[in-house]
Amino acid sequence: MKELVNKIKELKERKNAVILAHCYQNVEIDDVADYVGDSLYLSQMAAKTGAKTIVFAGVYFMAQTAKILCPDKKVLLPNLKSGCEMADMINLMQLREFKRKNPNIPTVCYINSTAEVKSECDICCTSSNAVKIVESLKSPEVLFLPDQNLGRWVEKQLGNVKVITYSGYCPIHHNIKPEETSKVKAANPDIKLLAHPECREEVVSYADFVGSTTGIMNFVKKSSDKKFIIATEKGVVDRLKRDYPDKEFILVKENLICESMKLNYLKDIYESLNNETFEIKVDDEISKKALKCIDRMLEVSK
Ligand code: 13P
Ligand code: SF4
Repeated sequence: MKELVNKIKELKERKNAVILAHCYQNVEIDDVADYVGDSLYLSQMAAKTGAKTIVFAGVYFMAQTAKILCPDKKVLLPNLKSGCEMADMINLMQLREFKRKNPNIPTVCYINSTAEVKSECDICCTSSNAVKIVESLKSPEVLFLPDQNLGRWVEKQLGNVKVITYSGYCPIHHNIKPEETSKVKAANPDIKLLAHPECREEVVSYADFVGSTTGIMNFVKKSSDKKFIIATEKGVVDRLKRDYPDKEFILVKENLICESMKLNYLKDIYESLNNETFEIKVDDEISKKALKCIDRMLEVSK
C-alpha cells in the first residue's frame, strides 16, 4: 500500500495534479488527497487550484461541478459508475414542470444535481450554506430541489421563508427512521446526536447539532465530550475514529454506506492518474449557465 501511495504522489507531481476527496470516500484515499472535506470546501478548492489536472474522489456531480468551475483543466473521475441517486431524481424536464407549477419564484438547487439542472436554477447551495443561500435571496418563497429534507430543514431554520420542496431525497440519509433514532437516543440519553440535514425532519428533530459532513467533524473537534451518536454516512465515522481514538462514535444505524462513494480505492486513483481517465466534459452552453448558478453561491459563501 505504501508503494502505491508513493507512486500516486509521484504521478501527481509529474502531472501537476491535485486530488480532491469527499469525506464519504474510503478512508485510505486521505493518504494521497490534497484536500478532504464536504461539498462546499471541495468546490472552493476546485475553483482555487492552480494545478492542471483535478482527480475527483467523489461522485459524478462533484467532478462535473469542478469541470464547470475550471473549464480549462482536465477533470478526472476514477469510476464513471460513481453517481448520486439523489442528483438523478430530477432532470431538466422535471425541473421545468416544477417551475411551471410554481411560477416566478427563485429556484435554489442543491449542488447534488446535474449540470443541466443547475443551468436553469438561480443559485446553488450545499448542506453547509443552504440557510445562508436561501436567506440571501430575500424572497418570501423559494423553490428548492432536489432534496426535500434539506429544504424543509432550511425552512425551519429561517422561519419567514416558504420553501417549496421537490420530492427528492438521499436514499442513505432518508433510510434512517425516526423510531430507530429515538431508540438509540433513549438508550444513550446523555450522548449528543449529530445529524446531517439530508436526514428526515423527524430524525433531525432529535439532533443536538445539525450540519454538513465537515460541520459534524468540526463539532467533534471542538467538543470535550467523549461519546457521540452520528447520523450520516459511515465515511465520517471512519475519519472520526481515526482522528479521535480516545473518543467513541455510535453510528445511528448499521450499513449507512453510499455504495457509489465507495467505488474508489487507491488502485483506482492510481489508474485514473496514470491513464488520465475518466475525463469529464460538459457542453459549453450548459456549462456557462451552470457556472452562474455555482459562482453566485461561492460569492454568497465568502
Ligand atoms: P456535504 O458534503 O455537504 O456534507 O453533503 C453530503 C453529501 O451527501 C454529499 O453527497
Ligand atoms: Fe448522493 Fe446520498 Fe450518496 Fe451523497 S450520500 S452522494 S446525496 S446518494
